[in-house]
Amino acid sequence: MKQFPSSDLLNSLPKQFFASLVKKVGQYLEEGHDVINLGQGNPDQPTPIHIVKKLQEAAVNPLNHKYSPFQGFSYLKEATANYYQREYGVTLNPDKEVAILFGGKAGLVEIPQCLLNPGDTVLVPDPGYPDYWSGVALAKAEMVTMPLKEQNEFLPDFNELSKEDIAKAKLMFLNYPNNPTGATATKEFFEETVNLAKQNNICVIHDFAYGAIGFDGKRPLSFLQVEGAKDIGIEIYTLSKTYNMAGWRVGFAVGNASVISAIELLQDHLYVSLFGAVQEAAAEALNGDQKCVRELNQLYERRRNVLIDGLSSIGWEVDAPKGSFFAWLKVPNGFTSAQFADILLEKAHIMVAPGIGFGEYGEGYVRVGLLTSEERLTEAVRRISLLEIFKKST
Ligand SMILES: Cc1ncc(COP(=O)(O)O)c(C=O)c1O
Repeated sequence: MKQFPSSDLLNSLPKQFFASLVKKVGQYLEEGHDVINLGQGNPDQPTPIHIVKKLQEAAVNPLNHKYSPFQGFSYLKEATANYYQREYGVTLNPDKEVAILFGGKAGLVEIPQCLLNPGDTVLVPDPGYPDYWSGVALAKAEMVTMPLKEQNEFLPDFNELSKEDIAKAKLMFLNYPNNPTGATATKEFFEETVNLAKQNNICVIHDFAYGAIGFDGKRPLSFLQVEGAKDIGIEIYTLSKTYNMAGWRVGFAVGNASVISAIELLQDHLYVSLFGAVQEAAAEALNGDQKCVRELNQLYERRRNVLIDGLSSIGWEVDAPKGSFFAWLKVPNGFTSAQFADILLEKAHIMVAPGIGFGEYGEGYVRVGLLTSEERLTEAVRRISLLEIFKKST
């Protein structure tokens, strides 16, 4: 068979970090090991039943078997605007300030292509969600990283960036509650971001994928709750985490009308819109009873407590995440994140994500997903306690 070479653009894409993680776990499973997979970010709970039932009902409606309207059904845009009004007190024009997405990832990867020319500069968090890099590569833009450091509660310190980098930046990605660090943003930080963006004409993309998951009674802030945010940016929301709908591929972008219309224009060229039944079910999720969301948040908080308390009890002092379903654990002295992740896999059959996969400033940490039962997390702690390094400290 003739091998057709890939384009330069395809070859310029960053290596898919998660793909190699999955492969590694697969090898251990094939060998028959009982692997506790804490390495990925795939919600383990099912979609709430009222949402599934709506999909079933809507799937038999022949209207949904046709092409959906370009840019999606207006009832879903209205449901999104109502959701933001009800949950965050943010007013959105459903026609101009909401775009429907095939999941948050699609929007995040599309945006650089919508707003940037080759060589333009994008500010990205480090450590950060690797899909930001993919979008930047597809737009042939350049990345400047914003270090997220523990001493700054994993918020970027804009004073650390050079004046030149800030002046040439056209786009900035932020993400709170944060993957991978579990940090949350303060109102003051978002206000500072709006000011910086206004002064320097930077478009801010706030990735609010974990917006529904905040601990210790603190609800994560929407970026759009801060005055002036809509003038300089958008927020990307997904139903993947809030309603355990990762496989359904549905999300939306909300905020600045010029960015929303750019996304819709690109999407008009790429797709028609989502299956109508998925759009009906998504509207049901947003409009329906939110008890399932509160219960999910409590479930993740209980798991967080089991993990963090358990690790402390065996002498691994780690900080508790404030939101998201990840814990960001400092690796014991003397190991890189990749070495320590390998030890956990080889000796304890526990998969975690090495911090270096999220950027240079992820070195020294591993990311643990709270996406398995309390029993399995307790078992993970037990296995870790048996490792040589922890035996000494207990
Ligand atoms: C930070 C962050 N943003 C966006 C996404 C994308 O989610 P989805 O494409 O399922 O909406 C994820 C998924 O893991 C994520 O962790």
